[in-house]
Amino acid sequence: MSLTHLRAGVIGTGFIGPVHIEALKRLGIQVVAVCDTDANAAAAADRFGIPNAIGGLQYQRLVGHPEVDVVHVASPNRLHAEHSLAALAAGKHVVCEKPLAMTSQETATIVAAAKKSRRVFAVNYNLRFYAALQTLRAMVADGQFGRIIHVNGSYFQDWLFHDTDYNWRLLPKEGGKLRALADIGTHWMDAASFILGDHVAEVFADLGIHHKKRQRPLGEVKTFGGKTEGGRWQPYTVETEDYASVLLHYGGGAHGTLSVSQVAAGRKNQLRLEIYGSKQSAWWDSESPEQLTFGHRDQANQVAIRGAAGFSRDEVRPYMDYPAGHVEGFADSFKMQFRAIYSRIAGSKAAALFATVQDGDAEVRLCEAILASHTARQWQKVARLKKA
Ligand SMILES: NC(=O)c1ccc[n+]([C@@H]2O[C@H](COP(=O)([O-])OP(=O)(O)OC[C@H]3O[C@@H](n4cnc5c(N)ncnc54)[C@H](O)[C@@H]3O)[C@@H](O)[C@H]2O)c1
Repeated sequence: MSLTHLRAGVIGTGFIGPVHIEALKRLGIQVVAVCDTDANAAAAADRFGIPNAIGGLQYQRLVGHPEVDVVHVASPNRLHAEHSLAALAAGKHVVCEKPLAMTSQETATIVAAAKKSRRVFAVNYNLRFYAALQTLRAMVADGQFGRIIHVNGSYFQDWLFHDTDYNWRLLPKEGGKLRALADIGTHWMDAASFILGDHVAEVFADLGIHHKKRQRPLGEVKTFGGKTEGGRWQPYTVETEDYASVLLHYGGGAHGTLSVSQVAAGRKNQLRLEIYGSKQSAWWDSESPEQLTFGHRDQANQVAIRGAAGFSRDEVRPYMDYPAGHVEGFADSFKMQFRAIYSRIAGSKAAALFATVQDGDAEVRLCEAILASHTARQWQKVARLKKA
């Protein structure tokens, strides 16, 4: 099925917007418009050969553009609801960055609007589209791990290690009341639920702030942009977590343990996920994405390489474009995911393995339960969206 008749518009051209644009271009999907500040929109349009640079943060012009079929929302978290709702109101399909919105009130509104619109609405939990995660999911569904006893893992980064590291994510009004857990922890929680085919029923969380005071540069800083040299600084009090530990109980009975940190020196962007079943175990590390390790009690452990024996199931082949030994990673997960989303828009009836608007809502509810648990220092049930 050709997807090349579909045309995209991207709101936000900071760190992740260009990752969307590159993946779309690799699929032959035209990106016909970008929106950001005047300077950012012009620079992105020039860099990627995009005909319409919409400056002045005038996203209404992008969502209303007659050539745009699918709107990608890659703006800061506080704008996701506004931008997604405007795109749906203009009759467009939406690919929204995570987290879907700031609160479950907002996500409920988006879920209702998406349902009414009958458009495809995807949330960018791109981890699902690593071949390793698709493989683990298929193996769990096949019963190859037996009963899942527990899952374990972490998501660690170090880009907010210094008190002078700054990004809008550090401000609750821009990023939300949770930071490390909402920003990267939800990637892990979405991935684990996707693999297990199960939801988190209750949580017990402990959040920590390493830098209670940080310095903010006067002027904005790009994500992963590094230090601001020679500038002027303003101190501020930090309200959101630098690191966290969460215990999880899944609906089907499995237990989970997750650690997240944005102040883990030396860890650049490492997601580690381990599954322990009654038949065998499996371990995956996003910084070695081509490798799955299977653990056994009574025989030698096995290391399998993507595309080779033990890591090459037929149903996962659509998510591998290159042969074994030709590394596929972060950027490829976007390409595979957008292929799945745009195929659905083009009429494919294949199972929607991408995160839906309901999945995006579920992650925000999970974050709210985590914050409530930490505040009350007790187990907290995770609320689920009531069916309309
Ligand atoms: N899926 C992933 O792996 C992944 C990775 C990074 C970021 N993200 C998500 O993507 C979103 C953006 O993150 P980022 O790291 O690219 O941030 P960023 O700050 O690098 O980029 C955001 C861009 O949006 C622009 N912007 C701000 N207000 C706007 C408006 N009203 N209209 C149009 N553009 C506007 C900014 O000028 C900036 O260029 C966040 O929600 C984040 O959680 C997801």
